[in-house]
Amino acid sequence: SKQYEHILTSRPEPAVTLITLNRPKALNALCSPLFLELNDALKQADEDSSVGAIVLTGSDKAFAAGADIKEMKDKEFSDVYKNNFLENWATMTTIRKPIIAAVSGYALGGGCELALMCDIILASPTAKFGQPEINLGVIPGGGGSQRLTHAIGKSRAMEIILTGRIFTAEEAEKWGMVSRIVGEGEGVVVKDAVAMAKEIASKGQIAVQACKEVVNAAYELSLNEGLRFERRIFHGMFATKDQKEGMAAFAEKRKPNFTHS
Ligand code: CAA
Repeated sequence: SKQYEHILTSRPEPAVTLITLNRPKALNALCSPLFLELNDALKQADEDSSVGAIVLTGSDKAFAAGADIKEMKDKEFSDVYKNNFLENWATMTTIRKPIIAAVSGYALGGGCELALMCDIILASPTAKFGQPEINLGVIPGGGGSQRLTHAIGKSRAMEIILTGRIFTAEEAEKWGMVSRIVGEGEGVVVKDAVAMAKEIASKGQIAVQACKEVVNAAYELSLNEGLRFERRIFHGMFATKDQKEGMAAFAEKRKPNFTHS
């Protein structure tokens, strides 16, 4: 696979791409060149038909400690406005395959927002989340005010964003922001995320992508429009070979052999 400067990519399973943020000296602060590489790796995985799911992780100490403060500190309004600073963070939300965030250590500011842009978050017991932008005289800029509020509710999001305090893996789990906390130990969260990605990748990829599309629609559409959208996409599944195979396999009491077609 491609050589990058700030990230590592690998295939821990034939159908799983693992992307590891790799700026250990800066606790994986999300500088612009890192984000360009991340977008490139995500797009490559999305386009590779042998990949069924993606895992995004950092190090044991830090998933990511936020946008790069040293890169940002001298920027002027005219720069950030003209260049639409952080716009390229949205590329991630155009990826159609599932992305699982495996979070260990600090996920602060843009790091927390990056995890929230993923489809599933698994947390190590050491995970520490937060939106400390208020302490820097700014506000969340990578979607935190919107996605965190959707994920944990208004009162908690207000508290977290207005005080800048760190919240724990237990809180994140109790509040429904992470799907679960994995067992203790270095690398456990990545191992579990890769196992989950492997399982997802064993399903029919058309149905997997459609599931992601319809769940995400729940954040955009009214209930009735969302239900109508789901029903139409469900109907569309009957045009796939995977639907025929999945249902035939059930009736014949055997495992399905999905061909992603
Ligand atoms: N940007 C740039 N560099 C960062 C960084 C960041 N967000 N976070 C950590 N680093 C650097 C530190 O400057 C330090 O570098 P040097 O060794 O060159 O001094 C190195 O990483 C190690 O960090 P610390 O020495 O601070 O490590 P620590 O264990 O004492 O503390 C920490 C860890 C509590 C996470 C602390 O580093 C910290 O508070 N980081 C900043 C967190 C933050 O404010 N994030 C929000 C950024 S703004 C944002 O993300 C905007 C947005 O919405 C998009």
